[in-house]
Amino acid sequence: MSADFKGKCAVVTGSSGIGLDAGFHLARCGAKVFLGGIDPDLNKAAGERAAGEGLDISIYQLDVSDELSVRNWSNQIAGETNALHALVNAAGLQTYGTAEDTSPDEWDRCMTINLRACYLTSHIFYPLLKAASGASVVHIASVQGHSNQNNVLAYATSKGAVHALTRAMAVDCARDGIRVNSVSPGSIQTPLLEYSASQLAKDGKSIEEMIAAFGASHPLGRVGTTAETSSLIAYLCSDAASFITGSDFRIDGGLTARLGT
Ligand SMILES: NC(=O)c1ccc[n+]([C@@H]2O[C@H](COP(=O)([O-])OP(=O)(O)OC[C@H]3O[C@@H](n4cnc5c(N)ncnc54)[C@H](O)[C@@H]3O)[C@@H](O)[C@H]2O)c1
Repeated sequence: MSADFKGKCAVVTGSSGIGLDAGFHLARCGAKVFLGGIDPDLNKAAGERAAGEGLDISIYQLDVSDELSVRNWSNQIAGETNALHALVNAAGLQTYGTAEDTSPDEWDRCMTINLRACYLTSHIFYPLLKAASGASVVHIASVQGHSNQNNVLAYATSKGAVHALTRAMAVDCARDGIRVNSVSPGSIQTPLLEYSASQLAKDGKSIEEMIAAFGASHPLGRVGTTAETSSLIAYLCSDAASFITGSDFRIDGGLTARLGT
């Protein structure tokens, strides 16, 4: 059963994959959704789809690494609502590299988009979240914040830090009635996963074959879908999760439950 978000407002970052689907799901559940992403083509497609489905989704050209961009978005939203019930931080990127070959610029880019942006949106939208008297923040982390494959130094570090950010925010924000949780996906079928498959492809395997191989490494035998992440995100944003804060939720088909021996 879907939660009822009628009369509620949600901000979601990321106009493809997990963020896009979460935004559409929340809108179908009745929320007014403000969706921000950096890619103009993705934003245009999301806007056309929202219009086609008759959903109340406003799309914004956003760079989550840029304070002014987030502030301008927040000012625009403040002109349309005086309270935000949900903030979902799903904008992010995958980087590869070790301590030996990750450049300082690549490290900073990963931290700025995957970690700092979760803080930045929370900071800038705080007055609107506080005004909702019972808002929920969901940061999209990763199983790689718990344990990781080789060659993901900056990415795994950023996601482990998102777990710490979630805990720290939950403890502080409780006084304002704001709950803060994170979601740690295993492999989910999105453009980011296709990028990972292209980077890791070997032995002449296609992207589809690589994704099937990722799926086979999950005990449930497949990769997850954005519909599955959206139902968890919507639950965490809903009143049904009113006593849940400071937690991380793995949605990984059992991936991290299995020992690789
Ligand atoms: N798909 C997976 O298997 C998987 C697994 C674990 C964690 N995650 C995490 O989920 C989150 C969403 O990823 P996804 O799989 O939906 O990938 P995705 O590439 O479809 O979505 C990420 C979105 O973030 C946007 N973005 C990137 N930089 C931005 C910026 N500076 N400002 C605004 N938007 C920006 C991209 O344009 C893209 O639309 C990421 O944080 C990712 O690390 C994904």
